[in-house]
Amino acid sequence: TETQVGIIGAGPAGLLLSYLLHREGIDAVVLETRSREYVEKRVRAGVCEQPTVELLTEIGVGDRLAEEGMPHHGLSLRFDGEDHRIALTELTGRSITVYGQQEIVKDLIAAHVEKGLPLEFEVSDVELRDVDTDPRVSYTDANGNARQLRCAVIAGCDGFHGVSRPAIPAQHVRRFDHEYPFAWLGVLARTPPSHEELIYTHHERGFALHSMRSPEITRLYLQVPPTEHIEQWSDDRIWSELEQRLVTKTGFDLKEGPVLEKSITPMRSFVVEPMQYGKLFLAGDAAHIVPPTGAKGMNLAVADVRNLARAFVALLREGNPEQAASYSDRCLRRVWRAEHFSWYMTSMLHRDPGADEFQHRLQLSQLRYTATSKAAATSLAENYVGLPFD
Ligand code: FAD
Ligand code: DHB
Repeated sequence: TETQVGIIGAGPAGLLLSYLLHREGIDAVVLETRSREYVEKRVRAGVCEQPTVELLTEIGVGDRLAEEGMPHHGLSLRFDGEDHRIALTELTGRSITVYGQQEIVKDLIAAHVEKGLPLEFEVSDVELRDVDTDPRVSYTDANGNARQLRCAVIAGCDGFHGVSRPAIPAQHVRRFDHEYPFAWLGVLARTPPSHEELIYTHHERGFALHSMRSPEITRLYLQVPPTEHIEQWSDDRIWSELEQRLVTKTGFDLKEGPVLEKSITPMRSFVVEPMQYGKLFLAGDAAHIVPPTGAKGMNLAVADVRNLARAFVALLREGNPEQAASYSDRCLRRVWRAEHFSWYMTSMLHRDPGADEFQHRLQLSQLRYTATSKAAATSLAENYVGLPFD
């Protein structure tokens, strides 16, 4: 079969790209290795920047987001047992919306199904061929039939562990990699949020984050060593650790409840440059990873595919290759800003087991400065709510 754009991966990047192209009358086929059920249940990001919310609303997939998303106008930095509120909206005029990534994925899949757009789940053996000359994707479909998809261009939206990035010969790209000496244990619990806003906590025992998904569901994260296994973390141990880290001088009432899901995610920073080779364009986690502390990963994926859709429209409808040629440079400016912000939030808030007391004092000073200086708080806030798209 043939299409204009072959899209590898049905995460936020692949699905949104496909939908943006459909709106411009460009044909695309999305191929995904997992099942629909699996991608709709995968618990991941929760914070949507204002530009992300505006884009989803503008293209008509924001109804449930407007209904069920939770707008937030501030967040708390908690350290030394005290909260310091960063007034996001007062400082920037903008806000964020807490709405699960898998809800966005569900909304986009529903929009595809409603419009009858080609989206294949449970494919296997995905291989990209001749991406610099005559791009094709070979794969096995859900029924076990060998298939080949010819396309004008390929969008690699298959995440960090996908096959798209490795399809670029190593000598054509530069990789930037940074690992952190910790991981996040994420917990989804059936219990009302214990606070109306997100709480980013720095504690001697390590970082902790209080977030939410709905008035009934709380999302929590704990810094743990990268070598930790989830079997070592009983629900009791998780609640006890959260209690100890989230404690305040005036007392904090952490509402406990049944744990619905728990898992451990390693933390890394990663960028590949350029995000393009021949007719293959990378977007989202396939091209870059940020540690989750800045809540930027999904939002970067959205910003990438907004640029990519425009570049493909110019290329495939008007025969103009300029935007496709500058796609990588345009994305990388936002990517590196998010890389820095995510590294800064991570460094400021976690307890680095290898750091000396001097470094720890610097960390506390940075936290106090951010909490008390309007200039420092504004800098955090404008990055957090999301810089405007270019
Ligand atoms: P993915 O969502 O990874 O989608 C890639 C898709 O490709 C997957 O469905 C995968 O199954 C599929 N695939 C893989 N290999 C193949 C193949 N060979 N062929 C076909 N398909 C394939 N970001 C934020 O913005 N805010 C947050 O608050 C936030 N919190 C996070 C918390 C956690 C615990 C984690 C793990 C991540 C968080 N992120 C956050 C990051 C965010 O989830 C990712 O950046 C986002 O999922 C990137 O979207 P994507 O579409 O690029 O990649
Ligand atoms: C959530 C995840 C993040 O990485 C973050 O910084 C804030 C909130 C969440 O899943 O709710």
